[in-house]
Amino acid sequence: MSEIDALLREDRSFEPSAEFRAGAHVTDPEVYARAEKDPEAFWEAFARELDWTAPWTRVLDWKPPHAQWFVDGKINASANCLDRHIGTWRRNKAAFIWEGEPGDRRTLTYFDLYRQVCQFANVLKDLGVGKGDRVALYMPLVPELAIAMLACARIGAVHSVVFGGFSAESLRDRINDAQARLLVTADGGYRRGAIVPLKKMADEALAETPSIEHVVVVRRGYADIPVHMKEGRDRWYHELMDGAPITCPAEPMDAEDMLYILYTSGTTGKPKGIVHTTGGYLVGVYATTKWVFDLRDDDVFWCTADIGWVTGHSYVVYGPLTNGATVVMYEGAPDWPEKDRFWQIVERYGVTILYTAPTAIRAFMRWGTQWPAKRDLSSLRLLGSVGEPINPEAWVWYHLNVGGSRCPVVDTWWQTETGCILITPLPGITRTKPGSATQPFPGITAQVLSEKGVPVQVGGGLLALTRPWPAMLRGIYGDPERYVTQYWSRWSPDVYFTGDGAKLDEDGYYWLLGRVDDVLNVAGHRIGTMEVESALVDHPKVAESAVVGRPHQIKGHALCAFVTVKEGVHLSEGLADELKAHVAHKIGAIARPDDIIFAADLPKTRSGKIMRRLLRDIAEGKALGDTTTLADPSVVARLRDQYQDEA
Ligand code: WTA
Repeated sequence: MSEIDALLREDRSFEPSAEFRAGAHVTDPEVYARAEKDPEAFWEAFARELDWTAPWTRVLDWKPPHAQWFVDGKINASANCLDRHIGTWRRNKAAFIWEGEPGDRRTLTYFDLYRQVCQFANVLKDLGVGKGDRVALYMPLVPELAIAMLACARIGAVHSVVFGGFSAESLRDRINDAQARLLVTADGGYRRGAIVPLKKMADEALAETPSIEHVVVVRRGYADIPVHMKEGRDRWYHELMDGAPITCPAEPMDAEDMLYILYTSGTTGKPKGIVHTTGGYLVGVYATTKWVFDLRDDDVFWCTADIGWVTGHSYVVYGPLTNGATVVMYEGAPDWPEKDRFWQIVERYGVTILYTAPTAIRAFMRWGTQWPAKRDLSSLRLLGSVGEPINPEAWVWYHLNVGGSRCPVVDTWWQTETGCILITPLPGITRTKPGSATQPFPGITAQVLSEKGVPVQVGGGLLALTRPWPAMLRGIYGDPERYVTQYWSRWSPDVYFTGDGAKLDEDGYYWLLGRVDDVLNVAGHRIGTMEVESALVDHPKVAESAVVGRPHQIKGHALCAFVTVKEGVHLSEGLADELKAHVAHKIGAIARPDDIIFAADLPKTRSGKIMRRLLRDIAEGKALGDTTTLADPSVVARLRDQYQDEA
């Protein structure tokens, strides 16, 4: 049997190598039992490794479903990312090694970053931003994005990063929901050789954002595009930074003061502003970065996520910087200009830890092993995966062709709401199984529950978290009720419902099965079906729509939209394209439907609810089950026939 054949059996598992184990931070499986016995003491030990300006009086105050961690403690996130390193030998260590898509490069040491963050903090203050004010950031993946986040944190302002791929309308809604006073954006950013005109899109949003007083615009060097600067409102970043003082005291924040808001899709048409606070969040990302990635001072850590998502917040910015790590940041696409761009970056900077998404790994698989084989990847010692379930084939391919069979693979499960990784191997301890995120991190208790809330020992059910953890969300911005109903009402107020299905095997390993609610995971991005449906019915020709996911080889799921049109509208290929473009314009390109299926009618139950399960089955081409609850069963048959003709 060849090595590959041996690995492709279903029951394969991988022990950490003796070599890896020998140098790892944590190798004693006892850590699980110790954390289980006293989780508060477990987290407190990590908290002690951070810098506080006033100690906490209590580790946890838990009044389900509201938690306070490190009660009365005072801490500043920016000081923990910067000041705590510049007094040490790390002062001139590289904090960010950045590469732009066109190939421009910059390195910022911890001392550089500290000064620029202080300068921008002073700029923000001069523009009237104070503690508790919200600042929206709509940026390409450039160091200034991290600088702006840390500058907000330094003065106690709350950042709300809006992914640069979102549309003007999405930006507008997020700014208005958070009532942001200031927006930081850029003239443009690069994507597959094209310039994304961020300022132009921001201008569109700014026509309807009365709370915004000032806009700061970063000039992204190459982007030679016309930028309109509105007198009295818009200022250039480089002009404001020029001469700004290079020190700025870090505001002592209460552990429970808000650090940031990050919008994510849920089960309604309106994205939710997930609220994270300071102390507990920092402890969570600090601890998990250190243990899950076995981070050492000579590591070069590359998390490929955009900072616009939670993965970028926790594992490009706050987690690695609290640990004093060297972080690689790359602005662009993995296949630009060639399909070996990632491997070129790994080779060029000697990346030791790579953290990416299954969707990227599946694309690499399709492109072929010749691309990673062209480059020297021997610096890599650990690989991570995040964002969606990883299929065993992709896991094994990653392990063999990127990790050279020597690197442990950590498949990490978590969410925007959880703030940090919660289910994951510990690379020096855990025997991994391809496709399983393995075990809850020490101090975390998860359960697989039946619909009725009965714990499943072996088998499938719904994933729940049964104890609070430091980095957990503290709420939904401006909607305290939704926080309770969405997450803590399924079974009881002290049990958190994740929205994910999961399976437990005989060894107690967790296998994540994807969302069980109306949220889709498309290419690792969270998209609410209701958001796409609202965007579709916003089109003047559309009467009704229902959006479901269908399995997709690379993206995990593809977006499949069933649409009924208004009387007299002519159906055409052109109309389908028009609707796809409409959704991309309303939400952003990530939400563009893959399929538009025109239907005479949508299948509904007698009580008028759209039968999504049935639509999913049609989209997947599965046999139709019992449809007796349909008001007009022939609708389904017509739909199915039509779908099969078109697919
Ligand atoms: C999914 C991203 C399986 C899951 C950090 C979750 C995963 C949603 C994994 C959160 C994983 C994330 N295995 N599924 N390792 N990681 N997910 O908020 O469905 O963008 O609920 O956070 O992604 O997506 P979010």
